[in-house]
Amino acid sequence: MKSKFELEHFEVLPKHVGVIMDGNGRWAKNRGLERSEGHKAGANVFRTICEYACDLGIECITFYAFSTENWARPEMEIKGIMSLLRSYLLEALDRKKENEEKGMRIKFVGDVSRVDKDLQKMIKIIEKQSAGKTRTVVNIAVNYGGKQEILRSVKEIAKGIERGNLSADDVTEELIEKNLYTPDFPSCDLIIRPSGEYRLSNFLTWQSAYSEFWFSDILWPDFTVENFNEALRAYEKRNRRFGGI
Ligand code: IPE
Ligand code: IPE
Ligand code: MG
Repeated sequence: MKSKFELEHFEVLPKHVGVIMDGNGRWAKNRGLERSEGHKAGANVFRTICEYACDLGIECITFYAFSTENWARPEMEIKGIMSLLRSYLLEALDRKKENEEKGMRIKFVGDVSRVDKDLQKMIKIIEKQSAGKTRTVVNIAVNYGGKQEILRSVKEIAKGIERGNLSADDVTEELIEKNLYTPDFPSCDLIIRPSGEYRLSNFLTWQSAYSEFWFSDILWPDFTVENFNEALRAYEKRNRRFGGI
C-alpha cells in the first residue's frame, strides 16, 4: 500500500517505541484555549504518528493516552479525554479495511475495566478484528500504570503459587513478563517524551529497563513526523551496550 508520507530510510529501527503524549494542556493554554482543545489537537497528532510508524514498518509502538494517575484531573477534563477516545474507537471500527490493508494491529494496555462499558465493548471488537495483523502493533495505554502492571503480574503468579501450580523457584523474569499487558512484545527500545519533562510518569516501568530516551521541549500537539524522524535518527546513533563493552 502506498504511503501518504515521504518515508525516510533508517539503518536500524527500534522494535518497540514508547510515546508519552504530553503537553496538550500547556499547548492550549499558550493559545488561550481550553485544555480540551489541546487534547483534541493531540489526538490528531496521535493519528498521524500512528500511521507513519506503521508505514515505516515499526514492529510495535505504545502510546501513553491516559495514566492511572490521570483520574486525579477534573471530571470535565476526564470526560473530554474519554469522548476523544470514543471518537477514535468509532473511527477505528469504521476504518477496519484500511487498517487491515496496512497490517495494523490495535491493542489496549492498562485496566480498561474502569472506562465506560460502551468503550470496553468497542475495544474488544477492535482488538479482535485486528488480532491477526502483523506489520505493526499499536498499543494504546489507557488507565495504564507501570507499577500497577507489575503488581498485577505478581498477583497472578501468587495465585498460581496459592493453587499449588507453581513454586517460588518458578518465578523468573520470563514469568513476570508473561503476565504483563505486553507479553508478546519486545521490551521498549526507545521512549519519546516531548513537553520538556524528564520523567517516565509510570510508563512502561518494566519494559523500559534498557530503553533509550529522546526528550524534547515540543508540546505534543506540535509534534510532527519530522520530530519522530529526529528521534529515530538519534536512536540510530546510540551505542547500546547492555552492560557489555
Ligand atoms: C497529556 O497532556 C495528556 C494526558 C495526560 C491525558 P497534558 O494534559 O498532561 O498536558 P500538560 O502536561 O498539562 O501540558
Ligand atoms: C503522562 O503525562 C501521562 C500521559 C501522557 C497519558 P502527565 O501529564 O500525566 O505526567 P506528569 O503528571 O507530568 O508526570
Ligand atoms: Mg502533562
